[in-house]
Amino acid sequence: MKYPDKVYINGNIVPSEDAKISVFDRGFIFGDGIYEVMVQIEGVFFYKKAHLDRLQEGLNKINISFDTSNLSIEIEKLLSATELTDKDCLLYIQISRGVAPRQHSYPSDIVPTVMMYAVPKVLPKINIINAKVITREDFRWSRCDIKMTSLLGNVMLNEEAMQHHCFETILHRDGFFTEASHCNVFFVKDGVVLTHPASELILDGITRQVVFELCKSLDIEIRETPVSVHDISEIDESFLTGTSTQIASIQQIDNHVLYTEDNIGPVTQKLQDAFLKIKMLN
Ligand code: PDD
Repeated sequence: MKYPDKVYINGNIVPSEDAKISVFDRGFIFGDGIYEVMVQIEGVFFYKKAHLDRLQEGLNKINISFDTSNLSIEIEKLLSATELTDKDCLLYIQISRGVAPRQHSYPSDIVPTVMMYAVPKVLPKINIINAKVITREDFRWSRCDIKMTSLLGNVMLNEEAMQHHCFETILHRDGFFTEASHCNVFFVKDGVVLTHPASELILDGITRQVVFELCKSLDIEIRETPVSVHDISEIDESFLTGTSTQIASIQQIDNHVLYTEDNIGPVTQKLQDAFLKIKMLN
């Protein structure tokens, strides 16, 4: 992973080493901010409106007054300055509440800090990593619908996967799978796709929403039903979704092997093929 050469900071595009924010920025002190990640594929951002809408919703939820409607223009300026217009790349946007003396309450006239960067990133056509995952108790807070920059819980849970040489940690709360440290998780049983409802306990991923659209167009039944940890041995297929993960088939959950070699389940395979098609049409 390489640092970007330039970053966008509060309206200016500057060399990364010259980009400065105050140590009193609440994003730094409290993790008081919202972020978004999206990818540009063949010159078009994938589900850009959905990402920007979710960013605006997140800001509204935590009462950061910032209007995202001008961001598209700023994104274009950033891409042009970094010679990424029309190139496959990943865009990171972070809007923190802004700078104020450290105390929990914040001034009403605080000005948000806006930071963005884009880096070249070419995603594989279809993700064929055959992911191995571990399971852990979801000990994060109960507003996981907010895409906040304070990701300590997610970082700790992801690190456990790294220590076990696995791709992800899938999480369960009160005995039911919620999501993963940086992805949503789906299961397939008897041809029906199952995933946790889009409640406050998960991030309603944009790729997750795309899976719902794909299931509808492919006539695959999909239900927002939490899957019990005890039922894992009954599961036929499982997969992860996320902006850069796309749709990744899960091969093994803890010691439970879902398939061997490259024998991705038929439902996951269909969804991956359909996902590739809409990426090309996007
Ligand atoms: N992660 N759940 C969590 C906890 C996530 O952090 C993410 C995204 C998702 C999938 O959302 P989407 O399909 O909109 O990318 C689900 C991003 C990409 C990240 O933090 O880098």
